[in-house]
Amino acid sequence: MPTSSGTVVGEEAGHASSTRPPLASRLGVLLFSIGVMLAIYTGWQNRTTSLMTAESGAGYALGILGSVLMLVLLLYPLRKRARFMRNLGPIKYWFRTHMILGVVGPVCVLFHASFQWGSLNSNVALVCMLLVAGSGLIGRYIYTRIHFGLYGSKASLPVLTQHAMETWEQLAASTDLPPELTQRLQRLEQAALIPLRGLLHGAARAAGFGIAVPWHELRARLALRRHLQHGAAAVLDRQRKKQLYRHTRRYVSDYIATIRKIAVLGFYERLFALWHVLHMPLFLMMLITGIVHVVFVHMY
Ligand code: HEM
Repeated sequence: MPTSSGTVVGEEAGHASSTRPPLASRLGVLLFSIGVMLAIYTGWQNRTTSLMTAESGAGYALGILGSVLMLVLLLYPLRKRARFMRNLGPIKYWFRTHMILGVVGPVCVLFHASFQWGSLNSNVALVCMLLVAGSGLIGRYIYTRIHFGLYGSKASLPVLTQHAMETWEQLAASTDLPPELTQRLQRLEQAALIPLRGLLHGAARAAGFGIAVPWHELRARLALRRHLQHGAAAVLDRQRKKQLYRHTRRYVSDYIATIRKIAVLGFYERLFALWHVLHMPLFLMMLITGIVHVVFVHMY
């Protein structure tokens, strides 16, 4: 309930830690992705007119650079496991570097290949590399579903449930919630808590929540707006109403995001385990075919 002075209870306590990455980080990813897509597009458009060759000059250097970058990115799994690397900086920086090099390295190799097919051994190496990089991107997506962001700790059901409860308490303390909103959030929570029956059920749930969540968010915001216009908070001045709306909306979004994570956690955990099983052989295939390619081109 808003107090008579319109102070938002819980505001002083600070906002609950959000499961979304910070804006600067999302902006960085967006700019990086745009840069990479532009580079690929330009390379693809000029593939027939490019003067670059894989055998010499800049084309050759890009092949070496791409390969070296892909070797350097292996320092991340090493940093995760090797005891002697334990003190070499926070793991999140290694992980970020891994992902950046995992994209930049293959892009260098695409330029090395002039975006065209070549001999059989180079084609096999190229396909394996693209499969590994593609698999990495899929792994990144699954990873964010079972962690708090890309660089946060591993999510677990007890931690998520605790977070949802705390967010709910802060939400309920910030203003009197319209019954429509409370019922909507309760229904969502009940759907999230139904035990999963296998991978297919998990996939259906992930897709269902993916579609339903933006809709629920929209309806929740509309209900909140209506409530602030006509409910108990209607007596507050415009500025306070705006502040209260923004504050409560953030808690609602955070609550819904947490409920969504709870709903699909088990599914994505199993998927990530399967992904690991697939990623490693793909990586080994890439390594072997890459070595074969380098040996062949220098022998014949
Ligand atoms: C050719 C490029 C790449 C290679 C050779 C490669 C190789 C590897 C290897 C060897 C692992 C360790 C697996 C393990 O710990 O069991 C790994 C993990 C991972 N990679 Fe890559 N990767 C590449 C590109 C990418 C890209 C482009 C991304 C995402 C943008 C990515 C995301 C990940 C993720 C999320 C993990 C799992 C991290 C974890 O469990 O701690 N990788 N990669």
